[in-house]
Amino acid sequence: MLPAVKDYRQLARQRLSRFAFDYLEGGAEDGRTMARNVASWGNVTLLPRAMVDVTTIDTSTTLFGRAQSLPVFVGPTGLNGLYWPRAEEVLAQATHAAGVPFVMSTASTSLLEDVRAASSGDLWLQLYVQKDRRIAENMMARAQAAGFSALMLTVDTMVHGKRDHDIRNGFRMPVPWTPRLLADLLSHPRWCLRMLRQGGSPQLVNLAKSAGVAANIQKQAAAMSREMDMSLQWSDLAWVRKHWKGPVIVKGLLTPADALQALNAGADGIVISNHGGRQLECAPSPLEQLPAIADAVQGRMQLLVDGGVRRGSDIAKALALGADAVLLGRAPLYGLASRGPQGVAEVLTILRSEFEIALR
Ligand code: FNR
Repeated sequence: MLPAVKDYRQLARQRLSRFAFDYLEGGAEDGRTMARNVASWGNVTLLPRAMVDVTTIDTSTTLFGRAQSLPVFVGPTGLNGLYWPRAEEVLAQATHAAGVPFVMSTASTSLLEDVRAASSGDLWLQLYVQKDRRIAENMMARAQAAGFSALMLTVDTMVHGKRDHDIRNGFRMPVPWTPRLLADLLSHPRWCLRMLRQGGSPQLVNLAKSAGVAANIQKQAAAMSREMDMSLQWSDLAWVRKHWKGPVIVKGLLTPADALQALNAGADGIVISNHGGRQLECAPSPLEQLPAIADAVQGRMQLLVDGGVRRGSDIAKALALGADAVLLGRAPLYGLASRGPQGVAEVLTILRSEFEIALR
């Protein structure tokens, strides 16, 4: 096992092709929001109390009616097949072994039915809503039939954030065979072999199935981005409720006013999030917004926070400031991209161990 999450990041950087690592890592525009997310955890100090019996500690919690061994969720990330074959299945299995829920993205590169077949753990569906609402309705029905327990509705992605690094790298799907990209690929033969073994460029198969489009990444990408329903508003939560029997969590809020809107619209919880700094540049960090939101909500719904969680002590800080759990984005992906299933398990073990040390 490596010492810390940042060591897995370093290894992932070496092992992935440049464009894949930049897609994983990069934030919007100049990366200020992303850097702020990570830095904000360092600005919070922990005040220890002495002479308390810490022989036994309990890291478990019950959220949305289900028990889990840590107040942690492995969050939704799209295009995971860029890092490891059958990535969603690997993440779901490692996450289940760690005793925490896995949230699968609409932009996943495996079918939700295959992820369910690979893991008997607690699975959630993250939903993006396209203009043709039948796509989301179909995906909700499929997830419900497959026994996914909760829905995470992401509301901060009406448009795709401007990611300069992807433009610079010429990264788009399917991967265009420019000389620059070829040179990038040739300098990462192990990664190339892994991609070839899974049949080449990963596909947005999950979305394709619900949209009824062919397994053609260009059509899928178009369905994803150009077709996003930009008219989505709070009253649409009733439409989601009509199609989803179970907890609904709204992801991507940063203000007390929006948290109260979510509460009034009947959400069971929210994720305070700026999408890992990948969407709106110069947004505040979710951690900075957490105390005011916790104050406004007063425990009337559950609060998750994400963005820059890289240490187990960050979990302690989030709970102390009013969150019920944290959501992880990049941290498990660093494990996945560097060492596959073992890497995801190791990253989750490190976070658990650091959390326990901080608690004691
Ligand atoms: C994301 N995120 C994201 N969120 C979502 O709701 N649906 C998605 O498909 C994706 N895709 C995605 C891809 C990649 C590569 C990253 C890094 C992130 C956002 C994610 O769920 C989470 O909000 C942030 O990643 C949290 O910040 P950290 O932990 O990555 O710093």
